[in-house]
Amino acid sequence: MANFRLPDNSRVRRDGKVYKAPAGAKKVRTFRIYRFDPDVPGNPRLDTYEVDMASCGPMVLDALIKIKNEIDSTLTFRRSCREGICGSCAMNIDGLNTLACTKACSDISGDVAIYPLPHMPVVKDLVPDLTQFYAQYASVKPWLQTRTPAPADRERLQSKADQEKIDRPSACILCACCSTACPSYWWNSDRYLGPAALLAAYRWIIDSRDEATGERLDALEDPFKLYRCHTIMNCTEACPKDLNPAKTIAEIKKLIADRQH
Ligand code: SF4
Ligand code: SF4
Ligand code: FES
Repeated sequence: MANFRLPDNSRVRRDGKVYKAPAGAKKVRTFRIYRFDPDVPGNPRLDTYEVDMASCGPMVLDALIKIKNEIDSTLTFRRSCREGICGSCAMNIDGLNTLACTKACSDISGDVAIYPLPHMPVVKDLVPDLTQFYAQYASVKPWLQTRTPAPADRERLQSKADQEKIDRPSACILCACCSTACPSYWWNSDRYLGPAALLAAYRWIIDSRDEATGERLDALEDPFKLYRCHTIMNCTEACPKDLNPAKTIAEIKKLIADRQH
């Protein structure tokens, strides 16, 4: 997969601060990190950090935490679980959207370039503004909708086979790696829902317990919300959980086409 387009790349100043490795560092790696501070003029810029990997964990997130703790406390990024579960450390590393906590520095040759997720407004440094992304997720009503009353004495059950259908789409961690890798989303993010929200829509469309399938498909039958997907597949390449959102978008299109016949 070719590198994804990086945010405001042509305007990023290359003459940012340089933090040299401490004397005696044994195993130096260079990290070039996008910096953006809304309160400071001269943005954005790339700062350069030389990190002694002899005293650093193996993942890119380990290096970011070491930089923040020991070199430059102003560096801002999101993280929480540190094991690929929360989705908050998604960023563009070495030209690809991925999770900093599961990306090994040893998988990258040369300097490590780190940018925020592409084509999103930046709050600060590596923190994108995901307000619209979450609103689009909410717009697909990602919860069970029913009309019939639940059985009085038990939960709404589903077969093992039906449960397995929602197993993988339910594993989405809402990291936004897919949507921010999608050219259609870059150019139409105000109207195209993007692969993450559409994967969530699909998860509820195929849930055997849900009773709003028709309304869900109606809501997506729109030239922009769904049909801006041109099967470019960047989303599937980017997904750190291997969820193949492009395939699920194709499945939604098929479900809509099938009910028209
Ligand atoms: S397959 Fe669709 S959603 Fe995925 S990157 Fe391509 S256009 Fe975007
Ligand atoms: S589908 Fe994959 S890349 Fe997209 S938000 Fe979910 S986990 Fe992240
Ligand atoms: S810190 Fe949670 S996914 Fe990386």
